[in-house]
Amino acid sequence: MDSKKILFVCLGNICRSPAAEGIMNSIIKKNGMEEFITVDSAGTIPYHIGELPDQRMRSHTQKRGYNLIHKARMFDPQKDFDSFDYIIVMDGQNYKIIKSLDLNGNYKNKIFKMYKFCMKYKINEVPDPYYLDPKGFEEVINILEDGCSGLFIKVKDELRSAD
Ligand code: 4NP
Repeated sequence: MDSKKILFVCLGNICRSPAAEGIMNSIIKKNGMEEFITVDSAGTIPYHIGELPDQRMRSHTQKRGYNLIHKARMFDPQKDFDSFDYIIVMDGQNYKIIKSLDLNGNYKNKIFKMYKFCMKYKINEVPDPYYLDPKGFEEVINILEDGCSGLFIKVKDELRSAD
């Protein structure tokens, strides 16, 4: 089987995208697909480079059995557009930034909005939890679990059909 690489992108790379990375890794592991699907995350602002995810996101995800160990990094257009098969952005602002870095539109077929993969949630972006209360964090994790499940089905299907 071929293999696929997924990159989740948000603003700070300390809340939504590292949580999505942890959730996706857990789904991949549960399905024994570690050899075939790999995941990373990145941000579009530099303020938190090198930091572990926000303490609130770490504790809310830990309650559901996820262990977030990613260290924040910036999206690198020189490398990431080529390295990844799916670039999954969390909201309209991230989408605009990533689209603007794809100067010639060469990578437009790799850029997706996370909400498109949600099966239960009818939303059009993953809200930024940074200024939200604990309930807001729980809701964001629910959305990410829903979106990651839908995305996993898509990636698995694409791996199978390429066989
Ligand atoms: P994230 O959340 O994009 O989900 O990581 C944020 C984290 C930090 C900031 C904004 C959003 N900030 O402005 O520092």
